[in-house]
Amino acid sequence: MNLDADFSLLQLIADDLAERGWSVQDAFLPASLIAALAAECRTRASEGLLAAAAVGRGDGQAVREGIRGDRIHWLEPGQSEACDHYLSALDTLRLTLNRTLFLGLEDFEGHFALYPPGSFYQKHLDRFRDDDRRTVTAVFYLNADWREEQGGALRMYLPDEQVLDLAPLAGRLAVFLSGDFPHEVLPASHERLSLTGWFRRRGSF
Ligand code: OGA
Ligand code: MN
Repeated sequence: MNLDADFSLLQLIADDLAERGWSVQDAFLPASLIAALAAECRTRASEGLLAAAAVGRGDGQAVREGIRGDRIHWLEPGQSEACDHYLSALDTLRLTLNRTLFLGLEDFEGHFALYPPGSFYQKHLDRFRDDDRRTVTAVFYLNADWREEQGGALRMYLPDEQVLDLAPLAGRLAVFLSGDFPHEVLPASHERLSLTGWFRRRGSF
């Protein structure tokens, strides 16, 4: 079975980013891989590996459930076959973005995120004030049989006061320029799983 992301789809994402700064693809990876990633997120949760996510950086870093209530665990190469497949698909995307957009993306950092029912992440930008390496955000959703009325949308604030709500449907990948789009995660009535990460450029210091 081919577990790699389809090349023409990667090019479509690059073209969308060049044109308007964001892209959404449904069916980004095969269903079997999505299911394996969701299972792994749940296993990590049951093993107690997920920890409350912090906001800010360095000395200013703190857990603030009034700002974000997700629980996370970082991806590292070699943790599992499913995660390695995901990292390799995203690396192919990184190279495609570099070829098309000359972004000079050097690496990717990402984590599983589990939002317990009722939790949310208030409106924010993914780029830190004192560290501009995060350049492109990629969020991959793992929720099979999700219904819109369960909430949990990624709400993106687009130019001209347009708002885009994206349900966290299994297989959906949302990609956007990290410094350009304020966004938030709306509360959901059910547990919400995703893989969230950032392609980074070399730092300017
Ligand atoms: C984040 C974030 C969006 C989502 O973790 O920074 O905005 O839909 N996540 O999970
Ligand atoms: Mn974000």
